[in-house]
Amino acid sequence: MRKRWLTLCLLLALLGPLAARAELPRVGVGAYSGRDTFITSLVGQIRERGQGRLDLHIVYAQGDQNRQNDQVLQMIEDGVDVLMVNPVDRVSAVYLIALAQQHGLPLILFNREPLREDLAAYDRAYYVGIDPRRQGELQGELAAAYFRAHPEQDLNGDGIIQYVLLRGEPGHQDAELRSLFSLRAMTAQGLRTQKLAEETAYWEKGLGQERMAMLLNVYGHRVELVIANNDDMALGAIDALKAAGYFAGAQTIPVIGVDATAPAMEAIAQGALYGTVENDAAQQAQAVVELAALLAAGNAPTADNFPFPMTDRVVYIPSRPVTQ
Ligand code: GAL
Repeated sequence: MRKRWLTLCLLLALLGPLAARAELPRVGVGAYSGRDTFITSLVGQIRERGQGRLDLHIVYAQGDQNRQNDQVLQMIEDGVDVLMVNPVDRVSAVYLIALAQQHGLPLILFNREPLREDLAAYDRAYYVGIDPRRQGELQGELAAAYFRAHPEQDLNGDGIIQYVLLRGEPGHQDAELRSLFSLRAMTAQGLRTQKLAEETAYWEKGLGQERMAMLLNVYGHRVELVIANNDDMALGAIDALKAAGYFAGAQTIPVIGVDATAPAMEAIAQGALYGTVENDAAQQAQAVVELAALLAAGNAPTADNFPFPMTDRVVYIPSRPVTQ
């Protein structure tokens, strides 16, 4: 009798955690790439914050929208309760939204913002990200503050700051709007600027370095400011600048990025990266996890049960500037 009781206890102890796990909502997570520094950190935060609350199944699309579409179809076939997707191409999110609707599944898009009319078409589709306009403005404000404090960095003394711009992926809302609004804010702050050139470096550090080296060949010391749509490209630019002799002695130049990734924070501490704008991965992760938990339980988010401001099913996590 005692033996049978022990066996039963053992069985329960073994099955307990399994049963608890099986009860967690199943969430399929599709990220556009596994090689992007910011996305890697964001997905890591989602994993951490989802622990014990969501049963996450994470896949990466390697920058291929067709592959991602197949991955999402597979998630649906696997019986997930919620879809969470960082689309490869924000314009193609329309297909993912239609697919989710067709299967009656809630869909949380993140980081790559769908067109508003696409999101509006399905009342269980949401977007979580940041406001790239505000991030651009903060970059511009950082630049203006820098030159107010360091007028001597207007190297040719012409009262105009000659700058180069490193852009992220074409068509990505963050690349387009950060570029536009950083310039607007510099002007609004009374900083006169002249864009010497802009180059697309697709969010990548290696390409940022290449493009910056090329720009230095063409413009040399005429460049007085580098604005990059993200930190990885800014860090690539810093590598090229270092190779050209900057940051060793007195020769310096302000470089401004976005994201506040770990390597960027290190570069700020070392005095190479002048500033960045935080792209708060922790809060974006918290928002998608809270939202997924609510939607999986069949609840719609409200001001009472969801602690993030939401307008038209869009959640923007606030950003802040970071310097030394
Ligand atoms: C941006 C971020 C970039 C890159 C991109 C991917 O928000 O600043 O570094 O991760 O998202 O979509």
